[in-house]
Amino acid sequence: MNFSELVKFRQSVRAYKHDKIEPEKILKCIEAARLAPSACNSQPWRFIIIDKHELKNKIAQTTANRFIPLNHFTNQAPVHIVIVNEGSNFTASLGNKIKNKKYSLYDIGIAAEHFCLQAADEGLGTCILGWFDEKKLKKLLKIPNNKRPELIITLGYPNEKLRKKKRKKIEKIISYNEY
Ligand SMILES: Cc1cc2nc3c(=O)[nH]c(=O)nc-3n(C[C@H](O)[C@H](O)[C@H](O)COP(=O)(O)O)c2cc1C
Repeated sequence: MNFSELVKFRQSVRAYKHDKIEPEKILKCIEAARLAPSACNSQPWRFIIIDKHELKNKIAQTTANRFIPLNHFTNQAPVHIVIVNEGSNFTASLGNKIKNKKYSLYDIGIAAEHFCLQAADEGLGTCILGWFDEKKLKKLLKIPNNKRPELIITLGYPNEKLRKKKRKKIEKIISYNEY
C-alpha cells in the first residue's frame, strides 16, 4: 500500500480473530511510534505491551462496563498496548506553562497513530481507546501514582470488512487565509 491507501485502509477495528500476533510485528509498530515527532523531542511515552491472556482480559474489563454500550469488543483482541504519559522534558514543560498547553497529549496522540498505521500496514487491526477505568488500569499494571495511562490500543488480526469512512466534508473543515 502507498501512504494514501494506508490512511484509507486504517480503521478502528472492533472485531478480532483469535490468531496470535508475531512479536516482531508488535515491535515494528512500537518502532513506528518511537519515531513519532514530539514537542521539544520530549518523547513522553512508555508503551506497556500486554500479551498475557488473563491479564489482557482484565485490562479489557477496565474499558467496558455493563451499563454503557461501549468497548464490549476489547477482550477479543489478543494484545493491548497501554501508553503511559511519562511527562514532558524540561523545555516542553516550560512551553506548557508559557503557552498553556499540554504538549505530551499531542505527542502521545501522534505516536498512537504512527503505531496504528504501521499495524495496518502489517495487516493488523487496532482501535485507540480513551475510555477506561484509569484507577483499575493503574493498579493492574503497577503504574506509579504520578503517571497517567492516556490511551489503550487494542491489537489483533481483524475480523471485519473495510467500512466507508464517515467524515466531515472537506469544504466544512478548511478555509483559506482566514477562519
Ligand atoms: C483519542 C481517541 C479515543 C478513542 N476512544 C475510543 C473508545 O474508547 N472506544 C472505541 O470504540 N473507539 C474509540 N476511538 C475510535 C474512534 O471512535 C474512531 O477513530 C472514529 O470513530 C473514526 O473511525 P475510524 O477510526 O474507523 O476511521 C477513539 C479514537 C481516538 C483518536
